[in-house]
Amino acid sequence: MRKSFFISLEGPEGSGKSTQCALLTRLLTDNGYGVVATREPGGTAVAEALRRILLAPGRDIAPLTELFLYEASRAQHMAEIILPALRNGKIVICDRFTDATIAYQGYGRKLDKNVIRQLNNIATQQRIPNLTIILDVPVETGLRRARRLAKDSAAGGDRIERESAAFHRRVRRGYVEIARGEPERVKVVRARDTIEKTHAAIVKIIGTVLNLNVI
Ligand code: TMP
Repeated sequence: MRKSFFISLEGPEGSGKSTQCALLTRLLTDNGYGVVATREPGGTAVAEALRRILLAPGRDIAPLTELFLYEASRAQHMAEIILPALRNGKIVICDRFTDATIAYQGYGRKLDKNVIRQLNNIATQQRIPNLTIILDVPVETGLRRARRLAKDSAAGGDRIERESAAFHRRVRRGYVEIARGEPERVKVVRARDTIEKTHAAIVKIIGTVLNLNVI
């Protein structure tokens, strides 16, 4: 059986993570790897229900409640999807994970990062990604992209996308600092270029770190 591997993709709004997760999943699957592609918040029925609560515009959710809902979604997702997949030797590709909580609730909402780290540890049962790729995009470019793509774009995007530019700038700074603090695990890819160029940059990192023969 192949060794399991856990990859998370992160980035500010409109960084193109979901597209890149899909491309990476296809590449690895086509090359014979067992891949489980999933996302946060979400990935299970309960966690998708929490996602709907978290992202529906128009609700006033207190920052601490928001934090607990993201962590609740994560606890369910770990127990039901991620840990079993890793136990089965799969490559797990997760669209956002614990670093999003540090970036959004820690830097964005200004909640205590040590508390978030503790909750992350509890919710994940201490499992951290082997590799995290942050797709970095300037805030204005990303928000423009995200709002254009959002299904509810007429109404200005989901509850988090509607936050101020200052909030999103703090999130981006958060990601940059996370990457600086953990250069072994966390790699930054510029996501300003075309989808193909960004994909190539991701594949290069994956090929090196995972030692995969996919390039
Ligand atoms: P996305 O799947 O389109 O990226 O939407 C998820 C949103 O939730 C995005 O705005 C980032 C936000 N988020 C948090 O604020 N904290 C978290 O822990 C996670 C996983 C996501």
